[in-house]
Amino acid sequence: MDSPDPALSRAAEIIEQASGDKSARPSIAGFFDEATNTVTYVVHDPASGEGAIIDSVLDFEAASGRTSNGPADLVIEYVRRHELKIAWILETHAHADHISAAPYLQERLGGKLGIGREIIRVQEVFGKLFNAGTDFERDGSQFDHLFEDGETIALGAIEGIVLHVPGHTPADMAFIFGDAAFVGDTIFMPDFGTARADFPGGDAAQLYRSIRRLLSLPDETRLFLCHDYKAPGRDEYAWETTVRQQREENVHVRDGVTEEEFVAMRTGRDRQLAMPKLIMPSVQVNIRGGRLPDPEDNGVSYIKIPVNAV
Ligand SMILES: [Fe+2]
Repeated sequence: MDSPDPALSRAAEIIEQASGDKSARPSIAGFFDEATNTVTYVVHDPASGEGAIIDSVLDFEAASGRTSNGPADLVIEYVRRHELKIAWILETHAHADHISAAPYLQERLGGKLGIGREIIRVQEVFGKLFNAGTDFERDGSQFDHLFEDGETIALGAIEGIVLHVPGHTPADMAFIFGDAAFVGDTIFMPDFGTARADFPGGDAAQLYRSIRRLLSLPDETRLFLCHDYKAPGRDEYAWETTVRQQREENVHVRDGVTEEEFVAMRTGRDRQLAMPKLIMPSVQVNIRGGRLPDPEDNGVSYIKIPVNAV
């Protein structure tokens, strides 16, 4: 791509600098939730202990409507054991396959809740679908901060930057800290490919451009994914790759695959995919910053399911 992209150039500078300087690289722990195939990350600056939690999971059993904090408690235990100061609780996007544990974590560990600015569009779309009342603000005010493309973010001495990478949803962001990029639902492991682009507001061509933008970061950039589902011939879960590996091997978007080819593949495949099991509860809660809908007059919160509307 020849068009100037200052945010991308700055991201590449941060990554290159961190690749050559161990003290500019963050410590990273991934917590894999088998029930939703989601990876939650704790990323921190080893020098100051300042850290961020990315894409947390609240356990939810759809049949009984019961939540539990098991996956989030593992994260809390890790944060306390390493005596980290949590500055940020980040969402790469409003997830459709699991409920966020952000409010639970924030209450116990502090930190500001952040997501991409385009969450406002996602709130608009799903606010209508769920016929949310006027008490549901569609201005992103449920979050402490809305990120723009190219905004910088730091954890102690570790420099970082945020890139807007829409396509899976309008609000997807990638968070870069040092030489590590947390790319959410854009790209998956090279043998699995890419995220779907058929949710309301999703766009396969946009997803292709976002992924190619990420893959124009330096070869050695460490990529941390939001999900893994294994892949034919692979028995272990995996969630870390590099830009180089993706450019060489990704079954959907390796170098040489055109936008047209990708869009045809992606839209064809998406037509065959079922909706994620937890899409209705997840989206309803996650567009509220992970808070349940306000309790009704009996004190109980309800999750709605729109019938024949999606
Ligand atoms: Fe997602």
